[in-house]
Amino acid sequence: MEINMNRPQKLSELLNTAGRKELADILRYFVREARPEELSGLMRCASRLREQYYGKKVYFRGLIEFSSYCKRGCYYCGLQRNNANAVRYRLSEDEILACCGAGRKLGFRTFVLQSGEDPYHSDERLCGIVSGIKARFPDCAVTLSVGERSRDSYRRLFEAGADRYLLRHETADEAHYGTLHPPEQTLKNRMRCLYDLKELGYQVGAGFMVDSPGQTCETLAEDFAFLRRLQPQMVGIGPFIPHKDTRFADYCRPSSEKTVILLALVRVLLPKVLLPATTALGTIDPLGREKAFQAGANVLMPNLSPAAHRKDYNLYDNKICMGEEAAECVERLSGRVTAAGFVPDFSRGDHVDWENRLPRGRERILIRGE
Ligand code: 5AD
Repeated sequence: MEINMNRPQKLSELLNTAGRKELADILRYFVREARPEELSGLMRCASRLREQYYGKKVYFRGLIEFSSYCKRGCYYCGLQRNNANAVRYRLSEDEILACCGAGRKLGFRTFVLQSGEDPYHSDERLCGIVSGIKARFPDCAVTLSVGERSRDSYRRLFEAGADRYLLRHETADEAHYGTLHPPEQTLKNRMRCLYDLKELGYQVGAGFMVDSPGQTCETLAEDFAFLRRLQPQMVGIGPFIPHKDTRFADYCRPSSEKTVILLALVRVLLPKVLLPATTALGTIDPLGREKAFQAGANVLMPNLSPAAHRKDYNLYDNKICMGEEAAECVERLSGRVTAAGFVPDFSRGDHVDWENRLPRGRERILIRGE
């Protein structure tokens, strides 16, 4: 394959114009055949593109896992509804606000509220939580990651002040989607959610697991083609890690290499994207996050949830959540970022195309003030 790694723009163009078959060939080449010097070329390419838009900054976000109840049945996930071994908890609004308060003191300006699909969280309750956070911490961004909801619900949450929304598409291949989820969960609805969120004005995050059961270079090509169509502002990519209470318990734990390569390729596909070095990657490889930064990742999401509940937000086995993962140890984690040659950043860290926009709702005030 003729790919010139010294011309990031060219590789970007190639990924953005290739048809499905060619995309699958490129992916296969990088994950299976490329020589070490070609892979370091890819990493350089990805780093240069990231630097063009974000410099060496790594954005910190505080993650609050506020409910482990879930009505969904995703076959790979430890929180699926029929896992009777899962410990279920739910934080109260006051507890969530206390997490934000502690996070704000530590310097965080983005709170990521993540939960299973918990029917307890009606629009009214969630809107109350979002507007409560925005009223107390007006300089902070709120990211929601609470699953599939109606367009109307997404609209109400946006109006309550939510800025961003994370909803991994998991796989953009219909048949593959069907092997990972029960029949009532459809790829079509998942995609509908993502397009709705985008149209409503959220900064949107899609994403997928690497080496999920049944994944092939062809299904990955569908993922890349979908990301190209959706143009999300964020993409979450982490390795699939088996959970003992699921049907995929006996799958082997992956290595970090393929995830790192795919992170770099997504950076090249979407040069301006915000790309987290995920907890799952840190779980399977102690140096996973450093490798991710070299591959173009630029976001970290340490855990702000109350320590007592952290072990119960159990998506996969052995999830790291203490020590440096914990937001209390943010200094140690930012020390690691600095040691790796990057710059920890505690600003809101919006997507570059958002930074030049006026803050929502303040347009008139700013115009008058000018
Ligand atoms: N391994 C890795 N990631 C997982 N997720 C769920 N289960 C697993 C697992 N076993 C990811 C999914 C989901 C996100 C919240 O966590 O991609 O979107």
